[in-house]
Amino acid sequence: MIMTGLFCACGNGEGKKGETVSPSAVGTEASATSLKDVFKNYFTVGVAINTWQLSDPKDSALIQKHFNSCTMENEMKPENVLDWEASKSTSNEMPAINKVNLEKVLKLASSNGLKLRGHTLIWHNQTPDWLFCKNYDPEAGYVDKKTMLTRMESYIEQVITYCESTYPGVVYAYDVVNEAVGDAGNEFRSDSTWYEIIGEEYFEKAFEYARKYGKDKVKLFYNDYNEYDVKKANFITAQVKKLAEKGYIDGVGMQSHWTMDDPEVDMIEFAIEKYATIPGMEIQLTEIDMHNNDDSEASLALQADRYKEIFEMLVTLKKENRANITNVTFWGLNDGVTWLTNFRKETSYPLLFDADNNPKPVLQSLLSIK
Ligand code: GLA
Repeated sequence: MIMTGLFCACGNGEGKKGETVSPSAVGTEASATSLKDVFKNYFTVGVAINTWQLSDPKDSALIQKHFNSCTMENEMKPENVLDWEASKSTSNEMPAINKVNLEKVLKLASSNGLKLRGHTLIWHNQTPDWLFCKNYDPEAGYVDKKTMLTRMESYIEQVITYCESTYPGVVYAYDVVNEAVGDAGNEFRSDSTWYEIIGEEYFEKAFEYARKYGKDKVKLFYNDYNEYDVKKANFITAQVKKLAEKGYIDGVGMQSHWTMDDPEVDMIEFAIEKYATIPGMEIQLTEIDMHNNDDSEASLALQADRYKEIFEMLVTLKKENRANITNVTFWGLNDGVTWLTNFRKETSYPLLFDADNNPKPVLQSLLSIK
């Protein structure tokens, strides 16, 4: 792996090709340029956030400076959008949504000048079990397929219609279905209650409904992890192609949870080009982070190099029209708010800023991309 030099471990103040490291670029966020400007000819740059960060002046200043897209880390997931109490008192098959919560998200994103990726409509995780139960009673057993399809359609209709009618254009894309493929990579995952009740058909139905209500006002994505795995990429491509032929989908979301050595850059490139074989597909890297349990100078320099190598590959694919990459989104603003520390059971330093919002070497290495 090549060191960028800008933040090389030797710390001799000499950058690649003789550039001098500006001390002001380290320790405070004083960079003259921003990520969204550096990549403006290629793709938008997003960040996963929580509404409290948009209300915090320091976080929101940093978010506004570098990003033009955001994804709510949790607040647009079904468990936070659905309203159990209100659903129980509906006499029909329309689960109720909490418009107060949604309004808060939309208002904050829009007042901070950010467009939103709607994450996520249909997922096996962070979706309350009561949604699948008779009378929304978690003790009452699951409803039948027909009822569940009606509930699915109603949920998708309500979310898309509410967002579009109250803040038109703010939500520009939805992860309509998240993580539908099993870890073996060659079949739909069976540990999803959507799958259990509806069967495989739930996948296509979700997109059919999303298109019906979103029309061409929002872009519809399928989003998944281990999306660079060849077997999984082949399976996803086959499924998405079928949806694309019906006009139900606009793109593939590659979650992009990387480590310091996995996947190899050419595996990511290979998968992107695979998805790009589906006519008309956009590609977005929706949840970028790079697990690193070492915040030594040397390790952060290696991280900066690896991020740079990957981003240069993305820019090349876009420049050469080999893939229509339209957004990249980092899964968290800074190392203090990353899910990876819990998930990996060790402190992780995967993002562009440290826990105090100071830029890490990787920020400068990405800002140096032409
Ligand atoms: C998946 C989901 C995200 C998030 C991460 C972990 O990738 O798509 O919403 O929950 O797991 O934080």
